[in-house]
Amino acid sequence: MSTSAPERIQALREQIDTHNHRYYVLDEPSIPDAEYDRLFRELKALEEEHPELVTPDSPTQRVGAKPKGGFAEVTHELPMLSLDNAFSEEELRAFVKRIADRLDGVDGSMLKFACEPKLDGLAISLLYENGLLVRGATRGDGYTGEDITLNVRTIANIPLKLRGSGWPQRLEVRGEVYMPKAGFEELNERARARDEKTFVNPRNAAAGSLRQLDPKITAQRPLEFCSYSTGIVEGGELPDSHSETLHQLREWGLKINPEMRLVTGADGCLDYYRDMEQKRAGLAYDIDGLVFKVDSREIQQQLGFVARAPRWAIAHKFPAQEEITRLNDVEFQVGRTGAVTPVARLEPVFVGGVTVSNATLHNMDEIARLDVKIGDYVMVRRAGDVIPQIVKVVTDKPRGEKPVHVPEHCPVCGSDIERTQLIKHGKSGAQVSEGAIYRCVGRLSCEAQLKQALFHFGSRKAMDIDGLGEKNIEQLVDQELVRSPADLFRLTARDLLRLEGFAQLSSENLIAAIDQRRQISLERFIYALGIPEVGEETARTLANSLGSLSNIRKALPQVLATLKDIGLTVAHEIHNFMQDGHNQQVIDDLLSLGVTPKESGQVSSALVGSVAFGALIDSLGIFRVGRKGADNLADHFGSLQALLEASEETLAAVTGLSTQARQNVFEYLQVEENRRKLVDTEQQLRDFGMHWECEPEASAEALPLEGETWVLTGAMERLTRDEAKLRLQALGAKVAGSVSAKTSALVAGEKAGSKLAKAEQLGIRILNEAQLIELLEAEGQGL
Ligand code: IVH
Repeated sequence: MSTSAPERIQALREQIDTHNHRYYVLDEPSIPDAEYDRLFRELKALEEEHPELVTPDSPTQRVGAKPKGGFAEVTHELPMLSLDNAFSEEELRAFVKRIADRLDGVDGSMLKFACEPKLDGLAISLLYENGLLVRGATRGDGYTGEDITLNVRTIANIPLKLRGSGWPQRLEVRGEVYMPKAGFEELNERARARDEKTFVNPRNAAAGSLRQLDPKITAQRPLEFCSYSTGIVEGGELPDSHSETLHQLREWGLKINPEMRLVTGADGCLDYYRDMEQKRAGLAYDIDGLVFKVDSREIQQQLGFVARAPRWAIAHKFPAQEEITRLNDVEFQVGRTGAVTPVARLEPVFVGGVTVSNATLHNMDEIARLDVKIGDYVMVRRAGDVIPQIVKVVTDKPRGEKPVHVPEHCPVCGSDIERTQLIKHGKSGAQVSEGAIYRCVGRLSCEAQLKQALFHFGSRKAMDIDGLGEKNIEQLVDQELVRSPADLFRLTARDLLRLEGFAQLSSENLIAAIDQRRQISLERFIYALGIPEVGEETARTLANSLGSLSNIRKALPQVLATLKDIGLTVAHEIHNFMQDGHNQQVIDDLLSLGVTPKESGQVSSALVGSVAFGALIDSLGIFRVGRKGADNLADHFGSLQALLEASEETLAAVTGLSTQARQNVFEYLQVEENRRKLVDTEQQLRDFGMHWECEPEASAEALPLEGETWVLTGAMERLTRDEAKLRLQALGAKVAGSVSAKTSALVAGEKAGSKLAKAEQLGIRILNEAQLIELLEAEGQGL
């Protein structure tokens, strides 16, 4: 017997609600995301088939249409109050004493308090009637707020329908909407990538998201809700205490803060404060203090309110994480790779529990974005253990006048500072300007770069040289004993004896530690070189996929970009690093001093089939093509040769490419230099032993020229050398650049010179253009 649609719909809604509840409220996800998505899609499909069965509390109905006009006003039947603050232990004790005094005869040290984090978001009110969410409103001025029902419905952990039973007919739940730190970082990351404005802090981001007129936008923001009190209660009752009420709300499917505790007296509150102070940085969300509430509702009623705050609760604030101070100067620091970055020197200010006098400014674009000048007053933020940051200029204070300029010469070594426009190759194939970066060109002759390069080289995840700490590196560089990582391998125990803190034994130990590292894994060696943007993970990919240092040194950017998780930007960094004379010298020196990276010599065969061909096309970074479009092109054309021959008509037949992308591909292929790049890339991939079988017929049987090495020379009339090369490769031949005893055949066009002579001398088979074409035709590779 099959279930009817209404039954199935009901069952699906219940399952989805349960999974939502487990995920968002209980923090105990119980099924994989894919399974959840499947249930959700099934429900959506059924509801589309049966629109008459759609109800507003269905989990599919969270995101509604944009309302006309602004938000409607909501008058709070019971005002939404605020809290008094305490900023010290004394103030907290005074609060408890005031309460005890008012309750004559009650011992303050016996009073029970419910303690909760004070979430740094926005207070809202949710009204449930007969268990259904009917209205969401902002706090506003406490008396009137705005109707944000449509936005509130998009917040995934707010139940559209209460769970269980026994709820009052009308129940107003109050709590905070906030944005967890991770979601905030991601949101800003995305905004930065699109060159859009970023939010100053999670609170502003939550406020901005909740006040969106279009609920579709709110739905995309990572907001959460946490309940901390109730308002109207009609047609039913709540438990006698605050803590039990919260537990009851949790039973009904609302999230409450898992850090909530019941304590006794001021001492209990202060213990909780100290505990949470420790936990604060590790919490997933920002808190700006704690709230202590008398737990008994009866006592709450006895105490009542003053002005706009209850007498029975207080907010114990943490030291502020944001403060205003003056920007006294901007200085420039030189990093390991020579990057010159601005650092703010601030008028010392107490923020986030410490005195801060420096803050990072990231880069010159950040300075431009903030529009900050020396002498400005700025908002400094220090949250948890993170490095203090300048979040904005305070514009209603006197403004500074001195603009920030990048120095022309390195502040450490005096070398020139070079400006490079950083182009990021986005996922969609788009090339986005990442702004300018400035680098000191001094390389290892710059002490700042040398010291940091050595520190990185010897660090635990790199060469792991025991005893090569910061202090020793300082001395080695200052005494001019070491001018490059290679020099470490030239050191003797006698050299070290000249340094402070070294005796015979310690000198010998360090030399032995260095010596031990002459045998090193390829991935550590690559990581130790300190190539910009190359962390351990990328170093491992390079080592594992390309198998040898020499392959990595000569790899073309497009070849690198076909590797797992290596984008074009990083690929160019690696390539540039390896082409740089300075770096080549360091690597050659290391090798000649006996440093031997262990190579597998094995090129990973992960790159086979049309997927790799897609990766190759993707690595070209053609605007608007992206990885998906690249894969479609790969599937469609199957081989590089076919792609190179693509016309506007054949491109039009490729699915999943926009007109613009198609046009870009066509134009790209018209440029001779690009065509060469493609051919060279493919050749190198083959040289490295990576290959793909695209044409099914080619993979079915052995290729006719498998194992042969061909050389092309001289000019041909009917086909270019690149085309000839591709066709020969398609038949399995390797095409080399010079004639040797290993050469199988030489194709000699017009004006062939020394190669022809050499081939004749070695008695190698020689073909002219006509013979080549004849052979290609015979093998199905004709023109
Ligand atoms: S109780 C009558 N509990 O703090 C008591 N408020 O200054 C009403 N807040 O507007 C508030 N976390 O936005 C309470 N656990 C918590 C809170 C909390 C954050 C905010 C709320 C309120 C403000 C009061």
